[in-house]
Amino acid sequence: MPQTHRFLITITFPLILLLLIQTTTSLQQPPQFQEAPAFRNGKQCNITDKIHIAMTLDTTYLRGSIAGVFSILQHSTCPENTVFHFLTTYHLSTTLRRTITTTFPYLSFYIHHFNTFLVKNKISTSIRRALDQPLNYARIYLAHLLPNTVDRVIYLDSDIIVVDDIINLWEINLNSHIIGAPEYCHANFTYYFTSKFWSNPAFSETFKRRARPCYFNTGVMVIDMTKWRKVKITEKLVKWMEIQKRYRIYELGSLPPFLLVFGGEVKGVEHRWNQHGLGGDNVKGLCRDLHPGPVSLLHWSGKGKPWLRLDSKRACPLDGLWAPYDLFKHPALITDR
Ligand SMILES: *[C@@H]1O[C@H](CO)[C@@H](O)[C@H](O)[C@H]1NC(C)=O
Ligand SMILES: *[C@@H]1O[C@H](CO)[C@@H](O)[C@H](O)[C@H]1NC(C)=O
Repeated sequence: MPQTHRFLITITFPLILLLLIQTTTSLQQPPQFQEAPAFRNGKQCNITDKIHIAMTLDTTYLRGSIAGVFSILQHSTCPENTVFHFLTTYHLSTTLRRTITTTFPYLSFYIHHFNTFLVKNKISTSIRRALDQPLNYARIYLAHLLPNTVDRVIYLDSDIIVVDDIINLWEINLNSHIIGAPEYCHANFTYYFTSKFWSNPAFSETFKRRARPCYFNTGVMVIDMTKWRKVKITEKLVKWMEIQKRYRIYELGSLPPFLLVFGGEVKGVEHRWNQHGLGGDNVKGLCRDLHPGPVSLLHWSGKGKPWLRLDSKRACPLDGLWAPYDLFKHPALITDR
């Protein structure tokens, strides 16, 4: 090879590489959000009374998480008492920390790294792919991810908005229970588990001992972390996930282990705290209406998400309730000059 060619290759190759790296990083630029105003405590607030809230953060649901945080701050009498615990993967944490800091400069928050490797080989494919995302399982490990000093936490999904003072949920009396959540007692458990589950007494007797196992949604939970750690709930949930891997005892994602461990032993919370299903029908993606009664929290569980429907101009009527909390800067509207 002539000397000049060799020279050209040594010079151009790193240049191309540099260009490639530049393009890929710019493609991975996280979405940008408007800065939220500062929310200040009312006079009656005691700054020592912290309210701990845990949520996951990932790139696909980021816009939802930000709207959720914004809605909580807006309706809180004591917004400065809220402490957010964001669960995310190690490789996203630097970027997402920056996004949270620039969007909510006054927010008190922590980022906890969830090692998705913990669940990678425990997740069996479910009927909906979104449910297989490893971060969905982070709630199982909450008690290990958060510091021991946190003895109560509210876990919230990333497709919710809160339209009430979060302190009203925070202060519920759990009595002897480990978790509190709205319960739905008309659900027929037969459908949540496979025949492999029902035909094996070692599995199905789990529910025989319970007075009244009710369905609940794991997107909104008030958790007594001290009790959770004490009776090793994480280990119990993981045990069911391992059984699932071997025997396939259910079809859905992270919910059935919770039903197996907590069904019938949940402190019922008013239904207003989880108006779920607004994402619409799982199969046809139809719009849903609110359940009757008062509303404190709207939850777009199901297939559709309000930000996607609003962007595609095919919004459901209730998506209009989510829109005021959307801080997303549409790329066409960003002017850096
Ligand atoms: C705030 O709460 C702490 C702990 O509950 C208490 O010791 C303190 O006296 C309270 N301060 C005020 C000003 O009420
Ligand atoms: C639940 O559904 C199964 C199957 O359709 C049925 O046999 C059973 O009686 C139902 N249980 C209740 C409590 O309705």
